[in-house]
Amino acid sequence: MRDIENRAAIDQVIAKFYDQLLMDPLLSDLFEREVKADLEAHLVKISDFWEFNLLGTKEYKNNMFAAHIGVHNRWNLNQKKFDRWLDLFCQTIDNLFKGENAERMKTNARGIAAVMISKFQGTQFFNKKSN
Ligand code: HEM
Repeated sequence: MRDIENRAAIDQVIAKFYDQLLMDPLLSDLFEREVKADLEAHLVKISDFWEFNLLGTKEYKNNMFAAHIGVHNRWNLNQKKFDRWLDLFCQTIDNLFKGENAERMKTNARGIAAVMISKFQGTQFFNKKSN
């Protein structure tokens, strides 16, 4: 199995990952409502981020954390949703690639998810949805 070494490999991971997200019982409604209408543009942003993060061959300057605050307020991004997101993300990578960058992609996603959750903890009090 190959490692993730170029943009095409990242695009492949992200496309398969979103296939899974859009079929997942816990997360499909959220992704259908939030990104399905403009899925292609969304996937480009996600791949740009990972190309920047893993390969350094792309600039990515958006505020990724700010992008999730509104999503959190609408859908309550709790630990259960993050765990599912991470499970699907890591499974997708493991099914397709093996190597240093594949490991970094999983480790970095877990780290970023942990930071996001800790940032949201301060706002959870105001959110009444629990599922
Ligand atoms: C339960 C977990 C997560 C959910 C439900 C989620 C959902 C979303 C949604 C709906 C958007 C679109 C926001 C918008 O355009 O207004 C988005 C954007 C994005 N997400 Fe997530 N996300 C999750 C976790 C993560 C994690 C852990 C990462 C990174 C490791 C990540 C990376 C990104 C990036 C890079 C964008 C694009 C931001 C931009 O450039 O505008 N997401 N996410």
